[in-house]
Amino acid sequence: MGFGFRFITKFTTFSIVLVFLLSSFSFTSTDAFDPLDPNGNITIKWDVISWTADGYVAVVTIFNFQQFRHIQAPGWLLGWTWAKKEIIWSMVGGQATQQGDCSKYKGNIPHSCMKTPTIVDLLPGTPYNQQIANCCRGGVIDAWAQDPANSASSFQISVGASGTTNTTVRVPKNFTLRAPGPGYTCGPAAIVTPTKFVSSDGRRVTQAMMTWNVTCTYSQFLAQKTPTCCVSLSSFYNDTIVPCPTCTCGCQNNITHPGSCVNPSSPYLASVVEGSTITNPYSPLVQCTTHMCPIRVHWHVKLNYQGYWRAKVTVTNFNYKMNYSEWNLVVQHPNFNNLTQSFSFNYKPLTPYGDATNDTAMLWGMQFYNDVLMEAGPYGNVQSELLFQKDPGFTFEKGWAFPQRIYFNGDNCVMPPPDAYPFLPNSSSRPNISFLTLMLTLLLSLAFSYVHA
Ligand SMILES: *[C@@H]1O[C@H](CO)[C@@H](O)[C@H](O)[C@H]1NC(C)=O
Ligand SMILES: *[C@@H]1O[C@H](CO)[C@@H](O)[C@H](O)[C@H]1NC(C)=O
Ligand SMILES: *[C@@H]1O[C@H](CO)[C@@H](O)[C@H](O)[C@H]1NC(C)=O
Ligand SMILES: *[C@@H]1O[C@H](CO)[C@@H](O)[C@H](O)[C@H]1NC(C)=O
Ligand SMILES: *[C@@H]1O[C@H](CO)[C@@H](O)[C@H](O)[C@H]1NC(C)=O
Ligand SMILES: *[C@@H]1O[C@H](CO)[C@@H](O)[C@H](O)[C@H]1NC(C)=O
Ligand SMILES: *[C@@H]1O[C@H](CO)[C@@H](O)[C@H](O)[C@H]1NC(C)=O
Ligand SMILES: *[C@@H]1O[C@H](CO)[C@@H](O)[C@H](O)[C@H]1NC(C)=O
Ligand SMILES: *[C@@H]1O[C@H](CO)[C@@H](O)[C@H](O)[C@H]1NC(C)=O
Repeated sequence: MGFGFRFITKFTTFSIVLVFLLSSFSFTSTDAFDPLDPNGNITIKWDVISWTADGYVAVVTIFNFQQFRHIQAPGWLLGWTWAKKEIIWSMVGGQATQQGDCSKYKGNIPHSCMKTPTIVDLLPGTPYNQQIANCCRGGVIDAWAQDPANSASSFQISVGASGTTNTTVRVPKNFTLRAPGPGYTCGPAAIVTPTKFVSSDGRRVTQAMMTWNVTCTYSQFLAQKTPTCCVSLSSFYNDTIVPCPTCTCGCQNNITHPGSCVNPSSPYLASVVEGSTITNPYSPLVQCTTHMCPIRVHWHVKLNYQGYWRAKVTVTNFNYKMNYSEWNLVVQHPNFNNLTQSFSFNYKPLTPYGDATNDTAMLWGMQFYNDVLMEAGPYGNVQSELLFQKDPGFTFEKGWAFPQRIYFNGDNCVMPPPDAYPFLPNSSSRPNISFLTLMLTLLLSLAFSYVHA
């Protein structure tokens, strides 16, 4: 009897550790598959709309089909390698970052002669005669679930020294999409059925001469090797505030990495931020904390009513170099199927596997109120309360009231270990996870990592 009990306790601890390791393993895999957005991708479509004397004119559109991952300022950079000796005569609604060597051209000078051009969007305020539809937002593309009307970006390109028929044109190779850092991997271009365009009155249909598609997918592991976000927890029924795990996004180390973080009281704060922006524009400069993450999401279980309960979510920015515009959170919790009200955030259910599992919410700021999460400092946070009608499975025990998974801007936020969650004072002194549940979780994680290995 005593032996059996000791064995189970030991085994339980072992399983907790194993499950934890396995789940962290599945997050760090380079696999682009995201269980909360299984079909998410960015598709780049080239529609050849006319042939010219030495090439073609195409409209290139970048569609963001990702539910909750957007491209924020300073925007996308799209690159490719020409298959032959093509050049870009001119562009509308976008531009190549470099002209390259056009010395063999006389008279008409091409816009770009680069073998591997890099294209950027034009800035807002571009004159109307240099715009086309969906252009000129500085490379910002919104997430599909958040703002479908602004989830595409287009430019027009006039190509020379290419083929002039659908059998002589060679599709460009080796597409790269940066946002503006790494993270996306693009597949090869595939020639597809030419796009049909319906006129605005719906009375005439035209079609592209030729169309090809490129699909790009995101991997958090390619974007950055360390996490960028962590979760802390608290509740009204227990005084303990469970902090973000120590060193989640890095460790404070004065010896090997002096200046890896800054102290908010430092008199040199402004100049340190300025210097870091010049030398390392895309990497965060964080406030010194035990977790060192640019973003912390705090979930507080605030109130218990007869048929309802209330949670408060606070997102804090510890990054001095970034105002997060159009930020979003994705939160998985079983009670989201009975969310009654989200007070200061917009809410939309995400149901990637059909309506039966309505447990995932996308939350984002309200326009002109809290849609920008300001840089670290006194204004660097946004918050909202959530009111839930109690689900049939509702309980304050076993950490049920805490979220199962949180993403900030599409990147996974590291949760505290399950055995650290605040628990009800009068419940048993350890979270009472049954042996069967653990075995099931273990088997499921094994199956999961096997499927996506
Ligand atoms: C890209 O996303 C769209 C929209 O979700 C989907 O229809 C399409 O099949 C996806 N493409 C690939 C290659 O996954
Ligand atoms: C090229 O055009 C011909 C008609 O001119 C058409 O039959 C053929 O399917 C087209 N090929 C491609 C790859 O679009
Ligand atoms: C594709 O582009 C990447 C980066 O620009 C480069 O390292 C790679 O060699 C290219 N591959 C081919 C086949 O051109
Ligand atoms: C190509 O991309 C467009 C726009 O995303 C999409 O509507 C079309 O279905 C894609 N074609 C194929 C064959 O994937
Ligand atoms: C790093 O230095 C700061 C101030 O110089 C100090 O407050 C902090 O405790 C140091 N951290 C470590 C891990 O040594
Ligand atoms: C964030 O926005 C504020 C106000 O618009 C601006 O003063 C500040 O420089 C911005 N910070 C960054 C890092 O862009
Ligand atoms: C999911 O739950 C929310 C909140 O109760 C509800 O408004 C929404 O209609 C549900 N969505 C689906 C697809 O069932
Ligand atoms: C919560 O939502 C589920 C599914 O939408 C529904 O079956 C259930 O009755 C709801 N519970 C309450 C208390 O409204
Ligand atoms: C609150 O939860 C913590 C675990 O995070 C536990 O150690 C502590 O005993 C709990 N406090 C009370 C009063 O039960």
